[in-house]
Amino acid sequence: NKGKYKHYMQKEIHEQPESLTTTMRGRLIRGGSCKSKTVLLGGLKDHLKTIRRSRRIIFVGCGTSYFAALAARPIVEELSGVPVTMEVASDLVDRQGPIYREDTAVFVSQSGETADTLQALDYALENGALCVGITNTVGSALARKTHCGVHINAGCEIGVASTKAYTSQIVVMAMLALAVGGDMISNEARREAIIDGLLDLPNKVKEVLKLDQEMKDLAELLINEQSLLVFGRGYNYATALEGALKVKEVSLMHSEGILAGEMKHGPLALVDHNLPIVVIATRDACFSKQQSVIQQLHARKGRLVVMCSEGDSASVSVGGSCRVIEVPHVEDCLQPVVNIIPMQLLAYHLTVLRGHNVDQPRNLAKSVTTQ
Ligand code: UD1
Ligand code: M6R
Repeated sequence: NKGKYKHYMQKEIHEQPESLTTTMRGRLIRGGSCKSKTVLLGGLKDHLKTIRRSRRIIFVGCGTSYFAALAARPIVEELSGVPVTMEVASDLVDRQGPIYREDTAVFVSQSGETADTLQALDYALENGALCVGITNTVGSALARKTHCGVHINAGCEIGVASTKAYTSQIVVMAMLALAVGGDMISNEARREAIIDGLLDLPNKVKEVLKLDQEMKDLAELLINEQSLLVFGRGYNYATALEGALKVKEVSLMHSEGILAGEMKHGPLALVDHNLPIVVIATRDACFSKQQSVIQQLHARKGRLVVMCSEGDSASVSVGGSCRVIEVPHVEDCLQPVVNIIPMQLLAYHLTVLRGHNVDQPRNLAKSVTTQ
C-alpha cells in the first residue's frame, strides 16, 4: 500500500523518520549505575566479549548494504579499536581471501537472501570465524545461518532501490560500535554525543526531507545530462558511492562516486564546464580538505553542486558561483544518514522526470538470489 505516494521508493524515502525510530526502539536504554543511556542489542549481548577480543572485524555485503557498512566503518574502528576490513561478498568468494577463527565477520543484507553474501557466509563459517548478521528480514537464510545478529526492523522495503534499509543499517552498525566499544571512561563524552545524536536523528531526517522540492528543481536541471560525479571522503566516502549507485540504478544516468582524496590521481581529467559534480562537504575533520577540493574543481570550471552543513553556504560556494544544498548538522559519524537523503530524492525525481520505472528498474531484481 503506497498510501499518498506515487511510488514505493518515494514512500520509503519519506518514511525514514519512522523507520529509524523503529530501528532504535528498545535499544537505547538508561544505564545501571549512572543516568546516562547505553545501547542494548539483544542479539549481540552474549557475543560482545568475543567480538571485542577478535583480531579483526570483516564487513561483508553487496551493493547498498556494502556501502552502509563502509559508512559505519570509521566509527566501528574508533570505538572498538579493532581493525575493520571491507569485503564485497562476490570478491571475497572469488579470491577465497583468508579468514581465521579469531575474526568476526559481519554480514549485511536487507533481504538476507543475497546469493553472494550467503556464499561468503558459508565460506566464513567453514573457516571458523564468528559470523554476525545484520538484516531486515526475520527468518531469512542470513538470520538463520549466522551465529548471532541484529534485525534492523526498518519495515518491509519494496522498491528495488534500497533507501530506508540503508539508513537503518548504518544506525544499527553505529549502535554495534557503541556496544562493542563498551563503557570505557575515555570514550564517555563521545559515546553520549552519539547516543544523543541517534535519539535526535529522526527529527533531523524530517528536516532534511524538506529539501524534496529543491532536489526536484535540481533534477530538472540535470534531466538531459549523460553523467554525474559525486565526490566524498571520510565518513561520507560511502555517501558518494551510494548516492551514485542510487542515481544510476533508477534514473539510468551514468554516475560515479569518487573518493575526493583520489581526485588528482585520475578523475580530475574528466572535469570541464559541462560535467555536473556533486561535492559533499559537510562539517567534520575533513572539511578544510573538501574546501580545497571545491576550489580546485572550480578552477577547472567544474559545474558544482555542493552539499554543506546549515549556515556554511558562504564558506563552500567560491564567490557564490556554486549551487548549494544545506543539510542539518549531526554528530560526524551519523552525518551519512542525513546526507544520503538529498541524493535519494535526486535519484527519485530524475527517474520520474526521465520517464523510467522507479520501483523496478530494468534488468534488476529486489533480491539477487542467483550469481
Ligand atoms: C527480540 C525480538 C523482538 C522483541 C525483543 C524483546 C525477534 C526476531 N526479535 O529483539 O521481537 O521485541 O527481543 O526483547 O524475535 N539474529 C541472528 N542473525 C541475524 C539477525 C538476528 O542470529 O542476522 C538473532 C539474534 O542474535 C537474536 C535473534 O536473532 O538471537 C533476534 O534478533 P533481534 O530481533 O535483533 O533481537 P532483539 O532486538 O533482542
Ligand atoms: O538484500 P541485500 O541488501 O543483500 O541486497 C544487496 C544488493 O543487491 C542491493 O543493495 C542492491 O545494490 C540495491 N538494488 C541497491 O539499491
